[in-house]
Amino acid sequence: VAADPPATIAWRDGTLVLLDQTQLPGTECYVECRDVATLVGAIERLAVRGAPALGIVGAYGVALALAEATRTGVDVRELTERVAAARPTAVNLRSGVERAWRAATTGGEDAAAAALQAAQDLAAEDAAASTAMARHGLALIPDGARVLTHCNTGALVSGGGGTAFAVIAAAHTAGRVRHLWVDETRPLLQGARLTAYEARRCGIPHSVLPDSAAASLFAAGQVDVVLVGADRVCADGSVANKVGTYSLAVLAHHHAVPFVVVAPTTTIDVATATGADVVIEQRAAGEVTRVGGVDLAPPGTAAYNPAFDITPPALVTALVTERGVASPVDLESVRRIARDP
Ligand code: MRU
Repeated sequence: VAADPPATIAWRDGTLVLLDQTQLPGTECYVECRDVATLVGAIERLAVRGAPALGIVGAYGVALALAEATRTGVDVRELTERVAAARPTAVNLRSGVERAWRAATTGGEDAAAAALQAAQDLAAEDAAASTAMARHGLALIPDGARVLTHCNTGALVSGGGGTAFAVIAAAHTAGRVRHLWVDETRPLLQGARLTAYEARRCGIPHSVLPDSAAASLFAAGQVDVVLVGADRVCADGSVANKVGTYSLAVLAHHHAVPFVVVAPTTTIDVATATGADVVIEQRAAGEVTRVGGVDLAPPGTAAYNPAFDITPPALVTALVTERGVASPVDLESVRRIARDP
């Protein structure tokens, strides 16, 4: 097993220091955010990404906004709104901003210190949630499991061990993972670049596959369980997650393979009734039509590039949270497990 992974998110002397995930696995380098514009840029280009991590940096963003407002006279609420709106789908981003803002405005004299404390608390709670999710999720992993996962859900997205990947790592430690199948996760390759990086560090036997090869893997009987994270779980149990998740859920259903979503209760949003109410982030065509700065399609080709899709609750076998497992996943079980029912 490799040395400790580099810190994803750190606060040093008024600067938010983020591991630049766009450069992984080749280079471990950092983005230093001293103002809101730099943080928003880092979020937009996915230097920092994944739902729980977005919540944590959202909260730190309030500390940056307060300092910047004092320095420049720009309205602080305008600055915090820029952070909250940087990406629309992961509910954690806006809720992280709101939590730190509440702390700053009710925390007495030192608003910036209160926002910082809220960010640090959120990171610590997320670490504890990762540990609890790993424990609850382990019960769903059979011995000798061949696990299929999508996107990236480990320490890079979390104050702790992550969501789905925390369960995978716990199952590996328990000797239950025969193989980890890693969807490459087109177009930005969070699976090939980041999950393979984390799996290697943990010593988990793994293979990367093109997303489109998953169907034949199911057909060959090579998948025992699917584990994915979530960017938003709606009141009815619909799951917004990285585009390509829905196809895996349909395949899992067709092949009678359990499809398990692992997400902390901070990702449950009971205020969003159904998947139809989720704003799906649409990203630039160039992410699809170019790779590594090289045109694949003729210049100017249009692209359909949603960052996320919606999996209906009927296709989700279980939702693992730090508070336990909801199964079946429906309005009632989500309401029971949600933090603020
Ligand atoms: O666009 P990304 O890389 O931020 O998308 C991340 C995902 O879809 C993850 O699966 C999700 O945030 C849940 S686990 C952190």
